[in-house]
This record gives sequence, C-alpha cells and structure tokens, in this order.
Amino acid sequence: MKVRDAVLADVEEISSFLQELAALGKRSLPSDETYVISQYIAHSDNIRCSVVEDVDGTLLGLQVLKWASEGNTYGVTPGWGMIGTHVRPSAGRRGVGRALFAATLDAARQAGLEKIDATIGASNPEGLGYYEAVGFRTYKTNESSVSKCFELTEATAPVQK
Ligand SMILES: CC(C)(COP(=O)(O)OP(=O)(O)OC[C@H]1O[C@@H](n2cnc3c(N)ncnc32)[C@H](O)[C@@H]1OP(=O)(O)O)[C@@H](O)C(=O)NCCC(=O)NCCS
Repeated sequence: MKVRDAVLADVEEISSFLQELAALGKRSLPSDETYVISQYIAHSDNIRCSVVEDVDGTLLGLQVLKWASEGNTYGVTPGWGMIGTHVRPSAGRRGVGRALFAATLDAARQAGLEKIDATIGASNPEGLGYYEAVGFRTYKTNESSVSKCFELTEATAPVQK
C-alpha cells in the first residue's frame, strides 16, 4: 500500500467507506461528498490530508491533520494540530492507520507543530487503542469523549536553515 495526498477525485470513494463506517455505528458525523470536500480534503485549516491506496488502487483510509483555529468545535488550544482518522472497515488492523500517521507526522514536523490533539468517543475502544499505540496520551476526558495529545519533541522539530 502507498500513502499519498488526497485529491478531489478520491471524494466519492472516501464518502462510500465513511458511509460503511456509519452503517456499522463507527461514525456519527456526515459522510456525504460535500462534507468530505469541505471538512477533509479542502478545509482551509488543513496541514495534510492523506489517503492510503492498496496495490489495486482501492482507497483504504484517510487521515486529516489541521491547525486548531480560534473557536474550533473541539475546544483544542489554538496553534495545536488536530487529527482525524478513518479506515475502510474491511481494511482494519492491517497497518493502514500506522502508515497514515507516519505521513502525518512528517507533515506535522514540517509545519513546526508542537502538539497534536485527537478527540475520540469515550466508547470507541479501537480509536482509543489506535491513538495510544501511535504515541498519543490522554490529557482531558469528559463523559462522552477522551482527548489525547501527541507531543513532538525537540529531537523531532524541523531543522532550522
Ligand atoms: C481506529 C482506526 C483508525 C485504526 O486503524 P487501523 O488501520 O485498523 O490501525 P492499525 O492497523 O494501523 O493498528 C495500529 C494499532 O492500533 C491499535 N488498534 C487498531 N485497531 C484496534 C482495535 N480494534 N482495538 C484495539 N486496538 C486497536 C493496535 O495497537 C494496533 O497495533 P497492532 O495491530 O500491532 O496491535 C480504525 O479502526 C477506524 O477507522 N475506526 C473507525 C473510525 C475511528 O474510530 N477513528 C478514530 C477515532 S475518531
């Protein structure tokens, strides 16, 4: 599989696997194509929006890294990054999420981010397990959600030219 930037031609297929996630009760946000474009592929706060493509061209997952802007809906500190990950149900537990995060981390370093927030439903063990596995740690909880933070250390900061 290969990781690349998402493009508008991917929208229909992304929308389709998001609908599969929703049908399985693993997603509550909209999954239509307009939402995919406005919130994922072409959001004005995007740092990187990546997809994983299988050898036959099938899209297996999507990860979005955005700047947390003033007044963002998740209450994340402005200037942090915010991440979202969505893997096609039939491609779960094959390393798609890990491959996406490697690309996202490169983008985060290039952007000079210091912290990335992942806010996950409190009753979503796979999401909680995934973010913990790639290095996020819980810093805030409430009844319905858990917020985890990935800290980019000085050793991973971009080299000053
Ligand atoms: C959570 C999600 C992104 C994980 O993606 P994935 O491609 O299956 O993850 P990977 O195969 O790269 O797994 C990486 C690690 O995450 C953890 N993990 C993944 N799926 C898990 C599960 N179902 N239960 C517990 N831990 C899990 C494991 O530690 C795993 O490492 P291992 O397989 O070596 O044990 C995917 O299941 C998904 O899209 N779920 C629905 C949407 C969602 O919950 N998004 C995230 C929260 S908003």
